[in-house]
Amino acid sequence: MYLGLDLGTSGVKALLVDDDGYAVGSADATYDVSHPAPGWSEQDPGDWVRGVGAALAALRNAHPQAYGAIRALSFSGHMHGAVMVDAAGSVLRPCILWNDTRSHIEAAAMDADPVARVVSGNVVFPGFTAPKLAWVAQNEPDIFARVARVMLPKDYLLWWLTGRYATEMSDAAGTAWLDVGARAWSDDLLALGGMSRDQMPDLLEGTDVVGEVQTARADLALPPTCKVVAGGADNAVAACGVGALGDGDGFVSLGTSGVVLAGRDRYAPDADTAVHTFCHAVPGRWYQMGVVLAATDSLNWLSRITGQSAADLSAALGDTLTPPGPVRFYPYLSGERTPHNDAQVRGGFTHLDIASGPQDLTRAVMTGVSFALRDSFEALKATGANLPSALAIGGGSRSDHWTRMLATTLNIPLERPDEGAFGAALGAARIAMCGDTGADPASVMTKPPIADVIHPDAALVSAYDDAYSAFAGAYPKLKAMP
Ligand code: XUL
Repeated sequence: MYLGLDLGTSGVKALLVDDDGYAVGSADATYDVSHPAPGWSEQDPGDWVRGVGAALAALRNAHPQAYGAIRALSFSGHMHGAVMVDAAGSVLRPCILWNDTRSHIEAAAMDADPVARVVSGNVVFPGFTAPKLAWVAQNEPDIFARVARVMLPKDYLLWWLTGRYATEMSDAAGTAWLDVGARAWSDDLLALGGMSRDQMPDLLEGTDVVGEVQTARADLALPPTCKVVAGGADNAVAACGVGALGDGDGFVSLGTSGVVLAGRDRYAPDADTAVHTFCHAVPGRWYQMGVVLAATDSLNWLSRITGQSAADLSAALGDTLTPPGPVRFYPYLSGERTPHNDAQVRGGFTHLDIASGPQDLTRAVMTGVSFALRDSFEALKATGANLPSALAIGGGSRSDHWTRMLATTLNIPLERPDEGAFGAALGAARIAMCGDTGADPASVMTKPPIADVIHPDAALVSAYDDAYSAFAGAYPKLKAMP
């Protein structure tokens, strides 16, 4: 039996799978994000600990026998967050999360040094970990002086469970302190951010064993021999959950943030495209992705301000895809990641008419998010990553309308996996299995059964293409607005 834990931004999911990789049961717990100032986004690591405790207690109650047979567990975690602890391991301040943009000035300063892109293979984005520490050094010097270790969110849980400071390549790749091609900490990058090697956790591969659960965590009632395996960053682990390890395999995720991800057999960075090139959660592989910061978050925002659920807004569009409407939406509600890297820009509607109604706004939001994903898709293509088709995952892909619109916008077929047969928690359980048995990841991380394939609507491809060109040309105008 294996346990996968998916530490997400809004909650944690714990999934038990049997030795053949089939789900046995799951439990969830939620927690909050605080936004103490505009552009800030923080979380208390103590809430993750409480969330994991609650989810494991629920799982243990529902499946006592299976729980007692867990051989190994592992994690998927939201990326880039900075957990700072002192020499005693006490948390010094709330974790600054991936979608926090306060460090955009520090990020731009680091990115301006040519060593950053050359060694890390990536733009230094404000969401990454290194500029966050530079912000703390500038604005909270007393805290910075006491930082003994920095951990990524799921690594805090690795430490809490095992007592060892450890991370792995896929999360370390999102810090801007890692030489992503060499899979090693870079002294040059650490020096650029005013950090040192002894503040970094031990660097492992995702499938390496960190240790066993320490006796101080006996209240979790995990078997004493249960191994803790390093795991990975959420997108890498989600890719493990759908068997996207190398060239030609990938997914489009319509989640809180939107992601277009392509597995890569080799390291092929092109930082200038603003595509992320990160180590995979399995040895010897990388992946590339473009990120849209507010994907379903944009529809959820519309749902909040109209008082209609996202599902109702989506259902009101019906089943038949229509050409893009005249109203346009730019989904930069939390700034922009790929391809413009602009933390300051904000979204908007244009071409509103006196006759525009809620359906026009819903269509515009879905179209705008699809076009932003096409921006990432084009940027990926420029790096040589080729996706002739892709899996469609994430909450938004439950909408037939939105998935068909996205397939038409990207002009590739999108395959929707069977509900429950994929996900980051499953990916984490698969990593735990590889860590425990030493199995070849490619034999464990297979593709999910496909429920249906959504093809582009051939009659509408050129209309979506034209509207995409207009969208792509609008960003500089939006940016120039005072
Ligand atoms: C990736 C990113 C997000 C978070 C969200 O670079 O910032 O996908 O990992 O979970």
